[in-house]
Amino acid sequence: MKSAYYVVEFLVLVEVILRGGEALSMNYYGMSCPFVEPIVRIVVNQALHKDPTLAAGLLRLHFHDCFVQGCDASVLLDSTSGNTAEKDSPVNLSLRGYEVIDQAKKFLEMQCPGIVSCADIVALAARDAVFWAGGPYYDIVKGRKDGTRSKQEDTFTSLPAPTLNTTGLINVFSQHGFTVWELVALSGGHTLGVARCSSFKSRLSSFDSTHDVDPSMDPTFAKTLLNTCSAGDSAAQPFDATTNSFDNLYFSALQKGDGVLFSDQTLYVSPQTQQIVNFFAMNQAIFFFNFQQGMMKMGSLDVKEGSQGEVRANCRKIN
Ligand code: HEM
Repeated sequence: MKSAYYVVEFLVLVEVILRGGEALSMNYYGMSCPFVEPIVRIVVNQALHKDPTLAAGLLRLHFHDCFVQGCDASVLLDSTSGNTAEKDSPVNLSLRGYEVIDQAKKFLEMQCPGIVSCADIVALAARDAVFWAGGPYYDIVKGRKDGTRSKQEDTFTSLPAPTLNTTGLINVFSQHGFTVWELVALSGGHTLGVARCSSFKSRLSSFDSTHDVDPSMDPTFAKTLLNTCSAGDSAAQPFDATTNSFDNLYFSALQKGDGVLFSDQTLYVSPQTQQIVNFFAMNQAIFFFNFQQGMMKMGSLDVKEGSQGEVRANCRKIN
């Protein structure tokens, strides 16, 4: 019996060595940087106290990081003379919250230099932002390493476009290993923040051969969106009535035909997802549970461990 135990221990050790370091775990920084979570939380809370709209920015940053090359902070790298990085791709130009990550990194480098990865900071900041805005709290594994590749072309195929219908969304999300329930739950991230007119204006004129505007929209809401767009392409439209609060009103909006993006409203139009939207609109606790499960899974997408990556000294540059 005892020898079997030692065999298992030995295999775990071999696995760790082969991976080039410790695997992801809840307590990854327990010895090396025990105050990592309170430090990130304080920085995030201070930033959100000054600008509550940044909760949305931090959540989206984590999503756009994880769906492109995995959760490796590739989204934070700046372009260089020979390389256009992910953050300068058209789909990422409205990402926000980089300076909050920089600030947390600065404090962490003072406390425990060279230990905490930028990818872990992004994951923690998104979690803390959701909680700050009234959403669910969940524990996350740590130990992600930072990647060295960041190319704008990687964003073209990995991120969903706002013009996709439910089949298209299911396709993109299933490529990353997500179920239909998880797609709908994670789309509930749109309970926070805004979309700019350029992301939804294709719904407002010459929609198709028989409709001027997207017929899945409530007509009064179509007027609201037209009004927003009268201020130009970068005019912002909140996704729901409580733009800085994490709640289930996004799903109630979809039931009324008040989804901002085509990719939002399609979740209520499609029989494949309508019931899930109804569940989440009816019961916030069910939405929160599914959202937190989805976020824990998203935070582990194609994570680099051990020698597969590095711990950047500056989140915007490779070492
Ligand atoms: C289902 C597919 C999705 C599509 C097509 C999509 C698309 C978009 C688009 C077009 C915007 C507005 C960008 C702009 O106009 O500046 C946006 C904003 C946002 N998205 Fe998504 N998204 C999706 C899923 C997600 C997921 C899974 C999350 C997080 C879990 C998320 C979080 C956000 C947040 C928080 C904002 C607001 C950002 C801000 O106010 O700065 N999205 N999304």
